[in-house]
Amino acid sequence: MPAFSLRSEEMNGVIAFIRAGFDPEGEAVKIGDPVRGKALFEGEGQCADCHRVRGVGPRTAPDLSNIGAIRTPASLQRNLLDPATALLPINRPVRLVTRFEETIVGRRLNEDTYTVQVIDSGERLRSLKKTDLVSYEISDEPSKQPTTMTSDEVADVIGYLLTLRGLE
Ligand code: HEC
Repeated sequence: MPAFSLRSEEMNGVIAFIRAGFDPEGEAVKIGDPVRGKALFEGEGQCADCHRVRGVGPRTAPDLSNIGAIRTPASLQRNLLDPATALLPINRPVRLVTRFEETIVGRRLNEDTYTVQVIDSGERLRSLKKTDLVSYEISDEPSKQPTTMTSDEVADVIGYLLTLRGLE
């Protein structure tokens, strides 16, 4: 690739645009120190209480081992600052009642026309036939509140999340 001859302000603008996920309406996202971010993730930020990374942690919230490869910095930031608007359809909490009178609360992993796979609140993987369900509710409520971390701490956590790109 040939080198670009951009001035440094122009280069900063291009980088901000990339970090905002190529969204012209998007906000530039501050990306901090991944080492501090990891410490916050595992400590004070309490992220590791719900999220699994590289085989460690519970399965009730999405596994974040590859999150840096599949989400933009802007989407990661939105998840922390405003989880309600960041809630993705597949991540919406579900509540199922079966015709055997069992109630299952959990998170979907997958769904097709006839079946739905969930991780229930006891971290068990369940595959259910839709014909066995008497009710199937999908919530719009995120499972967590907006973070109370400072903006520098959020930047550090985003810096860490961006290093999570599968099992290298
Ligand atoms: C109380 C449990 C809980 C805590 C604490 C928590 N999360 Fe989450 N998080 C979830 C759940 C559950 C979801 C799935 C969406 C939902 O239900 O709100 C989620 C979604 C996410 C997503 C979006 C995943 C995707 O597929 O895009 C990211 C990123 C994330 N959390 C990062 C964090 C970070 C970083 C922290 C710590 C600052 C944190 N979470 C703290 C439960 C939690």
